[in-house]
Amino acid sequence: MSRTVYVNGAYLPEEEARVSIFDRAFLFADGVYEVTSVIDGKLVDFAGHARRLARSLAELDMPAPCSEDELLAIHRELIRRNGLTEGMIYLQVTRGAADRDFAWSEGMTPTLVLFTQARALIDSPAAERGLKVISLEDLRWGRRDIKTVQLLYPSMAKMQAKARGKDDAWLVEDGFVTEGTSNNAWIVTRDGVLVTRDLSNRILHGITRAAVLRFAREAQMRVEERPFTIDEAKDAAEAFVTAATTFVTPVVEIDDAPVGDGAPGPVARRLRAIYIEESRKAAI
Ligand code: PDD
Repeated sequence: MSRTVYVNGAYLPEEEARVSIFDRAFLFADGVYEVTSVIDGKLVDFAGHARRLARSLAELDMPAPCSEDELLAIHRELIRRNGLTEGMIYLQVTRGAADRDFAWSEGMTPTLVLFTQARALIDSPAAERGLKVISLEDLRWGRRDIKTVQLLYPSMAKMQAKARGKDDAWLVEDGFVTEGTSNNAWIVTRDGVLVTRDLSNRILHGITRAAVLRFAREAQMRVEERPFTIDEAKDAAEAFVTAATTFVTPVVEIDDAPVGDGAPGPVARRLRAIYIEESRKAAI
């Protein structure tokens, strides 16, 4: 069945949706995006995603395509038109179309595209089984805090993981894990401390990461925001990733070595359950 998508003010069947070949996202990856999960037909942490979108746009001197209220209305209308109960809404904002030139001009009209993707998020086989990851050098650009559509290296890293029969890659820079290809990386030390990398330009400031940190602290878990190495992760009791697309998903193997006993651990399971329960309550 064809989806209804949103392009620059119009709701259209996906086959009829068009953007210009001169769009700067196509020519220069000059665009940003957000991914918001939907459970029970409602948006999870929309305010967090809208805030990060505003920040990404500001960092790139791009005008906002519309107000946050209008964005919320478009998200809800797409959920309604597509009968979406569980899955994702992808939003892309680009600087717009202009004749090809590295320099952009002021006053361009942004391109705004949104589309849905139905997917089971709560009953996830990957979360039951746990992910196997490989480590790879982080060869992305230096502003990973901006959620740009420049996703070629993460795609290449994911393909390398698949070619080796694994699920994903954890990226490493200067000896420390930055994050996963499309998620934030976490470990649980043998004495029960949750560790995830501190915020900087080197990682995306995950909305799920922020929520899980909050829930972990509310549950009196000990948390440290600091870099960790692949060796520390291999030696940890547990490892997991967080993202809007995966919530909390255990990592059970790193570079062919089992993490802990090689099965999803209790801390990741508990955090996943708390995250789903709290997100359900707060979804709008
Ligand atoms: N990716 N780090 C990277 C590099 C990401 O691409 C993502 C999300 C995250 C987690 O962020 P959040 O919790 O806000 O989803 C961390 C999205 C889901 C994607 O590209 O599909």
